[in-house]
Amino acid sequence: MTSVRLTGTKYGCGGGGCGACTVMVSHYRPATKTITHYSANACLLPLCQLHGAAVTTVEGVGSTRTRIHPVQERIAKAHGSQCGFCSPGMVMSVYTLLRNRPQPAMDDITHALQGNLCRCTGYRPIIDGCRTFCQEADCCQANGAGDCCLNGEETLEETQHPELFDKREFLPLDPTQELIFPPELILRAETAPPQTLTFRGERMMWVSPTSLEELVQLKARNPEAPLVIGNTNIGPDIKFKGILHPLIISPTRVLDLFEVTQTLMPFCRVWVGAGCSLTEVCSLLEKLLPQFPEEKTEVFRALSQQLGKVGSLQIRNVASLGGNIMIAYPNSDLNPVLAAGNCKVSVISNGGRREVPLNQDFFVSFGKTILKPEEIVVSVFIPFSRKGELVRAYRQAPRKESSFCTVTSGMRVFFSQGSSVVQDLSIYYGGMGPTTVSATQTCTAIVTRPWDDETLQRAYDVLLDELVLPPSAPGGKVEFRRSLTLSFLFKFNLEVLQKLREMNVITEELLETMQIQPLPREIQPGLQVFQHVPKDQRDQDPVGRPIMHRSAISQATGEAVYCDDIPRTDGELFLALVTSSRAHAKITGLDVSQALRLPGVVDVITAKDVPGQKVRKMFGYEEVLLAEAEVSCVGQMICAVVADTRAHAKRGAAAVKIGYEDLPEPLFTVEEASEKSSFFEPRRMIEKGNVAFGSVMMIVSTGEFRMGGQEHFYMETQSMLVVPVGEETEFNAYVSTQWPTGTQDAIAEALGIPSNRVTCHVKRIGGAFGGKVVKTATLACITAVAAWKTNCAVRCVLERGEDMLISGARHPVLGKYKVGFMNDGRIMAADMQYYTNAGNTVDESPLVVDKILLHIDNAYNIPNLRGRGAACRTNLPSNTAFRGFGVPQSIMVLENMLNDVAMVLGRPIREINMYQGPSVTHYGLEFSPENLWRCWDQCKEKSDYAARRRAADRFNQDNCWKKRGLAIVPIKYGIAFAESFLNQAAALVHVYKDGSVLVSHGGTEMGQGLHTKMQQVASRELGIPPSKIYISETSTNTVPNTCPSAASYGTDANGMAVRNACQTLYQRLEPIRQKNPKGSWESWVKAAFLDKISLSATGFYRGPDLYMDWDKMAGRPYAYFTFGACFCEVELDCLTGDYRAVRTDIVMDIGRSVNPSMDIGQIEGAFLQGLGLYTLEELKFSPSGLLYTRGPSQYKIPAVCDVPLRFNVYLLPDSHNPHAIYSSKGIGEPSLFLGSSVFFAIKDAVAAARSESGLVGPFPLDSPATPERACLACASPFTQKIPASTPGSFKPWALNI
Ligand SMILES: Cc1cc2nc3c(=O)[nH]c(=O)nc-3n(C[C@H](O)[C@H](O)[C@H](O)COP(=O)(O)OP(=O)(O)OC[C@H]3O[C@@H](n4cnc5c(N)ncnc54)[C@H](O)[C@@H]3O)c2cc1C
Ligand code: FES
Ligand code: FES
Repeated sequence: MTSVRLTGTKYGCGGGGCGACTVMVSHYRPATKTITHYSANACLLPLCQLHGAAVTTVEGVGSTRTRIHPVQERIAKAHGSQCGFCSPGMVMSVYTLLRNRPQPAMDDITHALQGNLCRCTGYRPIIDGCRTFCQEADCCQANGAGDCCLNGEETLEETQHPELFDKREFLPLDPTQELIFPPELILRAETAPPQTLTFRGERMMWVSPTSLEELVQLKARNPEAPLVIGNTNIGPDIKFKGILHPLIISPTRVLDLFEVTQTLMPFCRVWVGAGCSLTEVCSLLEKLLPQFPEEKTEVFRALSQQLGKVGSLQIRNVASLGGNIMIAYPNSDLNPVLAAGNCKVSVISNGGRREVPLNQDFFVSFGKTILKPEEIVVSVFIPFSRKGELVRAYRQAPRKESSFCTVTSGMRVFFSQGSSVVQDLSIYYGGMGPTTVSATQTCTAIVTRPWDDETLQRAYDVLLDELVLPPSAPGGKVEFRRSLTLSFLFKFNLEVLQKLREMNVITEELLETMQIQPLPREIQPGLQVFQHVPKDQRDQDPVGRPIMHRSAISQATGEAVYCDDIPRTDGELFLALVTSSRAHAKITGLDVSQALRLPGVVDVITAKDVPGQKVRKMFGYEEVLLAEAEVSCVGQMICAVVADTRAHAKRGAAAVKIGYEDLPEPLFTVEEASEKSSFFEPRRMIEKGNVAFGSVMMIVSTGEFRMGGQEHFYMETQSMLVVPVGEETEFNAYVSTQWPTGTQDAIAEALGIPSNRVTCHVKRIGGAFGGKVVKTATLACITAVAAWKTNCAVRCVLERGEDMLISGARHPVLGKYKVGFMNDGRIMAADMQYYTNAGNTVDESPLVVDKILLHIDNAYNIPNLRGRGAACRTNLPSNTAFRGFGVPQSIMVLENMLNDVAMVLGRPIREINMYQGPSVTHYGLEFSPENLWRCWDQCKEKSDYAARRRAADRFNQDNCWKKRGLAIVPIKYGIAFAESFLNQAAALVHVYKDGSVLVSHGGTEMGQGLHTKMQQVASRELGIPPSKIYISETSTNTVPNTCPSAASYGTDANGMAVRNACQTLYQRLEPIRQKNPKGSWESWVKAAFLDKISLSATGFYRGPDLYMDWDKMAGRPYAYFTFGACFCEVELDCLTGDYRAVRTDIVMDIGRSVNPSMDIGQIEGAFLQGLGLYTLEELKFSPSGLLYTRGPSQYKIPAVCDVPLRFNVYLLPDSHNPHAIYSSKGIGEPSLFLGSSVFFAIKDAVAAARSESGLVGPFPLDSPATPERACLACASPFTQKIPASTPGSFKPWALNI
């Protein structure tokens, strides 16, 4: 795509896991004379496979040069594009859906978007934009879940609030306007005789035969050559594991592999071609279902239910049934159902055909089946079921959709007429070992017995003994996985009992049938309530209005230029990094000779090549750019290979050989680090009052809370291009960074040149979240050294896996506390200790610790409060800034402490402890908590908290295995940098002679809409419409010495600077305006030029003088506070730990919003990122310090399936803030913590489950509250059956860092 300059399709992961690369593939089928369209991940589509197909990329859908497509328009105008990196993929998924179904249902849309990740928006605006294509767009249709949106729930005030977008503006969808399938391809398909296709590459050959006979012969001659159909298994193997297949056979043109045969006589049977995609198999089964009595289609139903959950739609559209079987993946969702359902495969080789049952003998070991390498699966037999037969499938995955399962199962039972005695039973599990496994002994224990409680109880015991996992089993989660096997059998039991009742074999009333209903999933329209602009505001003045992101349309059309979209320059090279595979070792050798001999490799850059400073200094510590003598974590950068292409550079990097000598005792956990006093100084303490626990009136308790880190997972990975200008050591650096000046300075230091020779340009960033500051500068230095040494432009774009490995994450934290409280719930004293896992370099860790300690009070006035914080130095990749900068960890420990106290006392205690009236923080900052209380009270009211609590209690009484939980949390978040100098900002505004205005400022656009807001500011100040104002990029040669765009302070600081510059210009034009008051803007500008008045002005804002004196433990580190409150209700499946947030209400005080659509976007996006942090996202490290979770397949960020079913956001009315531009407040970070309401709602639901087992009072639940943790904490009879492994008696699969 890059070579034909179609850069709209984005590359976010390369493994089919993010959807950024989604395109539409269309085929003409001569046999039926039909055209089919499906969405697919371009990153896994081999070009050779597309022979004869038409591919539509986002550029083909619509463009600003011709006509934008309604999908692009609606996603953009509904504010569904922030950084925009995911937008082309989103557009393509929905576009393909509309090509196939112009009037989709809401369910179709959420299905289509299953595989598209967005890290910015929180998905709500994307869904709302796409919802307008649905017939039922104006109404949620209640979706069977009760609360219809039109049911009078909204108050008058809410129905009259202004809307974020006006759907009456939208272009209609006109399917007749779509691109047609290229006629020449139809002609070719109709007329060209089929012939074998052969493509030859540098190292591989691709052969696509046309007949089964040819395929068989080819495979016989090349038994090791894989058959590639969907490439969803082979593709990632080639890309990520470096596996080379010199020959690939593509059987997609062999029609026998795609045939479906269905016979009714003498037996009902269906054979499905092994090459059929999972989507095709699913549609086939769904078409067959209504044609036969239910009793005959048990296997079909179980299979189609499971098929709908395999990967994402893009994956299912290409992945083949035969491929899924043949990769014999232990977590395959299909194999357990196929095996339990008595399916079989028909295989062919030059030895002939045979049929092989898909049973326990078929799957021999990891990735291996009983078939011979030369055998080809032609078709799969799916049997009809018999009367009295029941087949079911179950799965539990880390994320509800688009996620490989943790455990999956297929179960089949057969009863003879009128009997509850089991005639036949098969139970298969996936995820319980290296292959799909049969629970044969369990089946034997049940067969010939009546299906009753006694039999089942015995079966659970046998199953426990039969499916044992060693405590260090790969994949971890051993207790959870074992408990899931029991839970699934129990769920099956409920369904069997229901079936037996329907068969009139048993007559007892079944109380537990509700438990087998899936969790609710229909997303309903939410409310986004904000205030009208004042009545007297000019119509032209955009401030306070929900203006669309100024680049949203370009982003949705794929025209927006990100770093890697910049065209290649002549002779440009690509850089690939070589990183350490050891956590702590001496480097004993570096052999680059083999790499240098490879084609295209130009050079290898090592520390010796750095002409200037080889280290970067922070807080008195030094970080080497490239390791020379020693490495201190896996993933530390050692050298870099530069080559003519990306592929060559990567191959070169793989060929570099490094010798290591391990050093003793690498430290990984905070416990290990503190035991060895391995800290980055300074360690901090803050204290107010007298923290003592001696009072007899006080109840004292202690606790501990562990919180995992979080990967930024910005959709655009670290990207940069450094171009030598060619004279006087001048360089242009195009970098995806939040801090252009920091990057400029770092490059200048590394090259040993003055900063005035380096210009850093940032047009836009595809998401950053704090992760594109420190490490980005280091990467840019290495790239610049390569550009300097080779005198060529050098580009470095990290693969997702490298990025995750190298760039660090949010700090994991261990919090310990001691708390003293009164019977009425008042906290009298608290002593809190925080250990952050900082990793191998200091980065910004001490500042993170500072911010942790400054937020240990959150919304509460604890009279005697002490906090201590330490950044632990370990041998893990260095952790760094992440949205919230320690606050989400800080407050989480505190809120857990409060939660524990509330559980001890059996009553809520937040309100009694909240700041009241004029207040002072623990560091002496005076503030008013009035708006905190207003948020809190309104949140309770809007969410109907009291009524929902009663309803949840009733629900919990009626349901044994499902529980509802509620929570409401407040936030008080300090805005601005405590390091005062970082609050300054500057701007440069040019007015050109034609009246157009170019604004430059020091902030970077990373999706938060900063440029849009700056355009609004300039528009108000100059009194001209935003359309006359342009912002091209952020660059250090227009605005020097900028501060990072961070700390939720971008709008506050840069807004004031832009305002300052515009006011200067406005004043300069005043005499001209006075002379000609009726003149136009253009006429004044022209007159000013002729009058020799400068039409260019700089603006500056020095920011508030903030400080924190840690010796005195007092200061004014923040300009003001942003307040908010969030309610959440979840429904939890206690048997699997799966949950769904059914409702969320956020009330946020952000003063007077400059742009409500941007601010609501920030609130929703941060909330969902918080939901990920607290309930979903898990970084896993091996015992030797290697990050396992290096891509979206292993690391799950929230997807569409995680959006609360009803998601309401209210901006607090009548709030003013004298400390920021136009009375607004910073909002980028504060609402991330509100995601913890989901955690606490889960904890509440778990508490309800525990109380049924007689367990009351506080219980540990660490963050994230994954299904694993939630399920185990429920302490169901099934989890209690699993013996816990003794810590220390085994080496766990993953570290608890
Ligand atoms: C992002 C992602 C998410 C996924 N999620 C899930 C999930 O949730 N659940 C799940 O079960 N799976 C999941 N998968 C796995 C996916 O279903 C399989 O990779 C897919 O079904 C394999 O089919 P394919 O046509 O793409 O295989 P290919 O990659 O084309 O081939 C795979 C292998 O199968 C062999 N093969 C293929 N067809 C035949 C045949 N007819 N006869 C003999 N050998 C054959 C090939 O020789 C090759 O070795 C996921 C994959 C990805 C990439
Ligand atoms: S880049 Fe293709 S799915 Fe992520
Ligand atoms: S807008 Fe979706 S990833 Fe940024």
